[in-house]
Amino acid sequence: MDDKNSTDMKIGVSVPVIELVNLCKSYHVGDMDVPILKSIDLKVMPGEFVAIMGPSGSGKSTLMNMIGCLDRPNCGQIVLMGRDVDTLSDPELAKLRGLEIGFVFQNFNLVPRLTTLQNIELPTYANKKPGVDSRKKAEELVEMVGLKERMNYKPSEMSGGQQQRVAIARALINDPSLILADEPTGNLDSVTGDEIMKIFSDLHKKGRTIVMITHDPDLTEYADRIVYLKDGVIDNN
Ligand SMILES: Nc1ncnc2c1ncn2[C@@H]1O[C@H](COP(=O)(O)OP(=O)(O)O)[C@@H](O)[C@H]1O
Ligand SMILES: [Mg+2]
Repeated sequence: MDDKNSTDMKIGVSVPVIELVNLCKSYHVGDMDVPILKSIDLKVMPGEFVAIMGPSGSGKSTLMNMIGCLDRPNCGQIVLMGRDVDTLSDPELAKLRGLEIGFVFQNFNLVPRLTTLQNIELPTYANKKPGVDSRKKAEELVEMVGLKERMNYKPSEMSGGQQQRVAIARALINDPSLILADEPTGNLDSVTGDEIMKIFSDLHKKGRTIVMITHDPDLTEYADRIVYLKDGVIDNN
């Protein structure tokens, strides 16, 4: 847990990591507006592990992209760590995204020509917390995900599970307040998927805040809370 969150807890103030108010998003297809997210209210507190479930095409990735500031909503409010993202300039938004959010994707999204260690360190080239030795941090993380022996391998020289472990280490390099994972086990066999979930579960036990999209009901056992998305709204009944 980072210093900021633990200080907040000590003085009994807890700012939500995510607060979505009446969020909506539609896509323009031809000359039609197709509503994808209709009115989403969601609050995620520090240290929570939230699983987002829903049928394919229900807008899970769209929601994730809004929370990760990769896309903007058509209406409503996104407040991350107490900051209304709509009030931030593009550079401020890029900084918030780079320092406070760690992304993990279904297809790993590693840079093919970079080694394990270089991939893990990559986010720090654009955004870095002052006073942190990125190389040292990357070396600690590569050990944490059990890939010390493969720190000089390229992604193509590793299995899917190993690549996803690199991606998780990369997501942690700037010590983010939030980890967003979109179907992180979707391209993995179930045994490897369980190993990846074990890492997320350990991160959660250490106090990390995680929002994970999954279509696999078995994986939701790791989460504190499940949010079901259906027809553009949260449907927890
Ligand atoms: N850029 C886009 N333009 C138009 N439609 C899109 C775009 N991105 C997603 N969609 C549509 O939005 C719906 C929700 O997509 P998505 O959020 O990827 O769903 P999920 O992740 O739950 O499977 C789908 O019907 C998809 O076709
Ligand atoms: Mg998706």
